[in-house]
Parts: sequence; C-alpha cells; structure tokens
Amino acid sequence: EKGGYDHFMMKEIYEQPSVIKDTYRGRLLADQGLIHLGGLEDYIPKFLNADRIIIIACGTSWHAGLVAEYVFEDLTRIPVEVEYASEFRYRNPIITEKDVVIAISQSGETADTLAAIKLAKEKGAFVYGICNVVGSSISRETHSGTYTHAGPEIGVASTKAFTTQITVLTMIALKLAKTKGTISKRDYMLYLHELELIPTRVEEALKSNEKIKEIAEVFKNASNFLYLGRGCNFPVALEGALKLKEISYIHAEGYPAAEMKHGPIALIDENMPVVVIAINSDHYDKVVSNIQEIKSRKGIIIAVVTEGDTAVTEMADYVMVVPKTPEMLTPLVTTIPLQLLSYHIAVLLDRNVDQPRNLAKSVTVE
Ligand code: M6R
Repeated sequence: EKGGYDHFMMKEIYEQPSVIKDTYRGRLLADQGLIHLGGLEDYIPKFLNADRIIIIACGTSWHAGLVAEYVFEDLTRIPVEVEYASEFRYRNPIITEKDVVIAISQSGETADTLAAIKLAKEKGAFVYGICNVVGSSISRETHSGTYTHAGPEIGVASTKAFTTQITVLTMIALKLAKTKGTISKRDYMLYLHELELIPTRVEEALKSNEKIKEIAEVFKNASNFLYLGRGCNFPVALEGALKLKEISYIHAEGYPAAEMKHGPIALIDENMPVVVIAINSDHYDKVVSNIQEIKSRKGIIIAVVTEGDTAVTEMADYVMVVPKTPEMLTPLVTTIPLQLLSYHIAVLLDRNVDQPRNLAKSVTVE
C-alpha cells in the first residue's frame, strides 16, 4: 500500500508529478490555449466583479493561499487577502456580498475552515471551495468549487495536497486574467505550456533526493532552523519550516528574507542552519545580499538554487538544485527539496513520520 516506499509521506512526495498531471488533466489544454474548470465557468463574473477575494484556510492549505495571493494579484489585479480560518471567524470580519471567499482544505473537514465558510455565507459572500476529498463537508458547504485530484493523502504532513492546490489556484488565476484581459496572450500561452511541464520539472527536482539525504545527515542534530524566501517563495519558506517542525520536532521558523534584519538576524551563529530559497528571480540580487549578511555572521547556508546557478552556489555551504520555470510557478518546484529535507531528517531521528505526535490528519476540533 506504500508502493514500495517506507512511509506514505515519501510515496506522496514521489506521486507529485503524476497527481499534478491528474489535477490539470482535461482542464488545461495548453496547445489550444484553454483552461476549463467546470465549477468556475458559471461564476467567472462573480470573481471579476468582486471587491476582493478572501482566502481562508489553515496550516499547509493556508500556505497555498499565500502563494495564490501573489499569483492572483499579479495576474488578475483583484485584491486578495489571506486569513487563518480560526482568526477570521472569531474577529467579526467585515464581509459583504461583493466579496468572494476561497476556502482551501485537503480534507474538507477542518472545523475552523468550515465555520468560517458558514460565517461568510451568512454575510452574503460567494464561497468557492478547493478540496481534495470528494463529498467532504467543505465541498458540500461551498457554493461551487474545484477538486484537487491528489488522491488520498495519508501522511499527516501534507505534501501532494499543497502542490495540487497551487496548481488549481494558478489555473483559476490564469482563467480569470485571460477573461479580464489583464494578461497578454503571449504570457498566457507561456504559463499554460510551462504549467503543463511542471510534472517533468518536479521529477527533475526529485532527482536530488540522495544529495538531500546527505544534507539531512549533516543537520539532523540541529535544534533550530531558519527558512527564508521572498515573493511567492516566502510562503514556501513557511511551508518548509512547518514540514520540519511537525515531523522532526526540530524548531523551525519561516521568514521573508528581507525581514531578517528586523530581528531574526540576532539568532544567526555557527549553529544555525538557514535554508534560503535563492532561485533565479527578480529578487535574486537581494537574496544574495541576505545570504552575505548571514555568512558574515557565520550562519550556515543551505540554498535552493536554479540549475546552472553560480553566485549563490559559490557562497552557500550546501545547495539543492531545482529546474528552471517561470518565477510564478517556482513554488511548485522549490517545495520539493524542502519536503525531502524534512522527511530525511525525521527518518534519521527515528520519528513517526506518517503520524507525528500530537497531530491528526483532519483537525475537526475548534
Ligand atoms: O485538511 P486541511 O487542508 O483543511 O488541513 C489544514 C491543516 O490542518 C493541515 O494543512 C496541517 O497543517 C498539516 N498537518 C500540514 O502538513
């Protein structure tokens, strides 16, 4: 049942190329320049006329929402807010029938997300769901939605649910941008083709597994980790830190790289591994200077870099290489080495990878 892997988590990490394909199959037709999402077609005007989109979720699904904020605002120019469902529901939020709410949940059973959806509906908002489990409570409670086709996710640490959520959210943003006219035909076609290539890119990223295992061996006894990223890879840094925390029980924090100087830099010394997402992007030079700041304080750098990278590779203590893809799609590949790193550290520490202590797969308590 684990398909030859030692743990469900590893099986699910390795399933990503195929489940990302399952998620866009029949919905993304790059050659024809088409995106068709059954649940979305009738509601496109609702999205395009919305004052803003509010994304609600918890945990890893919330991180997917944060990635979507970058993608939606950039492509569609619709304001987006991303909220923890638990905070949203208890703070008397301002919400009207001009708002569109997107609720993201792998299980479709998360109690806080479900309660936030009910509240948003009461206030007249249109609620769109992105769930993995067919027929789940959230998929039934929302007005419409799109399923991710990740298949059952057994490992408590969410992996393939995250990348398929981002795949769906990216398709929605592209469809809305195309309809609204906020994306050029050229960019639209490019993204469609590049999205179709993501399964191949993920396969490529998975090839670093052995190398990442060696890095895990070096750092398995660290008691703290920092994860840094910028732009749409800031949420990936948060997700990398969450993955490490929940399955290895090592304390880890994710930060936007530029926030370092506002506090966390005080933590840097020779005992602090810092995982930096330093892929080719508009932020590359800025990330290089962030790395210099860390190096000059004797911090240890484990960098996620784009293949062919030289500058960061020279400065970093260890690198994990991912293939090239347009910046907006990079979270789908930069996530992979971070999943593998946390997996190997947890295995080396003999943790219960699939069922970490104190955690449940569906959080149905409030
Ligand atoms: O089923 P959901 O996506 O609503 O679950 C949300 C969180 O409970 C979940 O992502 C949790 O953070 C995972 N253990 C993260 O790996």
